Amino acid sequence: MRMYDLIMKKRNGGALTRQEIRFMVEGFTAGKIPDYQMSAMMMAIWFVGMNEEETLHLTMAMAESGEMLDLSAIRETKADKHSTGGVGDKTSLALAPMVAACGVKIAKMSGRGLGHTGGTIDKLESFEGFSTDISTERFIRNVNEVGMSIMGQTRELAPADKLLYALRDVTATVDNMSLIASSIMSKKLAAGADVIVLDVKTGSGAFMKKQEDAFALAREMVRLGKNAGRKTIAVISDMDQPLGNAVGNALEVKEAIETLKGRGPRDFTELCLTLGAWMLLLSGKASSQEEGREKLWETIRDGRALAKLAEFVTAQGGDGETVYHPERLPQASLTREVLSPADGYVERLICDEVGIASLLLGGGRETRESVIDLSVGILLERKVGAAVKKGQRLALLHGNDPEKLSAAHDRLLGAFQIGSMQRQEGPVILGVVED
Ligand code: URA
Repeated sequence: MRMYDLIMKKRNGGALTRQEIRFMVEGFTAGKIPDYQMSAMMMAIWFVGMNEEETLHLTMAMAESGEMLDLSAIRETKADKHSTGGVGDKTSLALAPMVAACGVKIAKMSGRGLGHTGGTIDKLESFEGFSTDISTERFIRNVNEVGMSIMGQTRELAPADKLLYALRDVTATVDNMSLIASSIMSKKLAAGADVIVLDVKTGSGAFMKKQEDAFALAREMVRLGKNAGRKTIAVISDMDQPLGNAVGNALEVKEAIETLKGRGPRDFTELCLTLGAWMLLLSGKASSQEEGREKLWETIRDGRALAKLAEFVTAQGGDGETVYHPERLPQASLTREVLSPADGYVERLICDEVGIASLLLGGGRETRESVIDLSVGILLERKVGAAVKKGQRLALLHGNDPEKLSAAHDRLLGAFQIGSMQRQEGPVILGVVED
């Protein structure tokens, strides 16, 4: 078999067989197929597309390109949640303790932020001493003993995807449905959970700007999960404006803590309850959405979810007491207000622009090597639909550098569209894909 022939076949509109996809993925992972041939193949796929069979073979070949995590030492059902990424998305921080407090084992692999979207690992590192760089043995022990653990992606997990993603990132081949679905699902399948709840974002801050694309991606991923024998569903949620009010690592941790005390923003709380209820339902801990939601609320009311977060942070080397003393989280030295330029309503809040404003403060990564400032970020005080008078505060920036604050201020101001039309704030949950 020759890679040249496979590129030609795909370029000419053909469908690759399982053997051909295996040859390509295994050869590329072993360094036998050079980047330039794989880049040509990715571009051919981008133009021609892949059918369902091909996408499934690509997913399984990438999942099996490295270690398939064996979680059989955890006897009960293991659940994982994955978000396709957004701005202010601190869902795992609140959701995982709530679900774990209901008795579902959470075994989760998370990533770092890149570009305008944040990552769970960075957020968790706001807890002094916390580490996700733990061995698989410790990960399994923590899931068994604490009920939840979050680790960084190991080098051995789906290495083909890691190499391929880096290539796609620089060859304008990220935004293809089959490639995104196989990339995400290869990692989820290799990470070993029995229940996979996907949070597929749509809107200006998401990969999938259009709802129909988000639904199509969700259907594709659910199909891949089910094909591999995992209980999988996808919730489609809004990312046309940031989730909750806080954007920035330590500020988001604080908001997640507030949510576990029952004082979270409406949209964020609703998303956590919906995703969490699905996790309980698929794990057999609830028989309906309503029962699931009620059980989750109970963990907030009686403090079990907050205690679970503290226990989890402590078990991974962090200062768990911070959960009860959020003032110990990293704090920026300066603040700057963003004021409304006119009377009216917030008609739009351009989501990725808010993410970029946080990035400009130093809260995100321009490149994989960037060091981020955990203390900086944005607290939004008005979101879509809110009435505002000229000179009233729209948001408060937290930063450590006056120049960065100034750049972020201008960017964030540009993200707010103030006009005379009062738009209703839309629902955060846009749909569910079960099969
Ligand atoms: N996230 C991934 O892990 N892979 C993609 O291709 C896109 C988003």
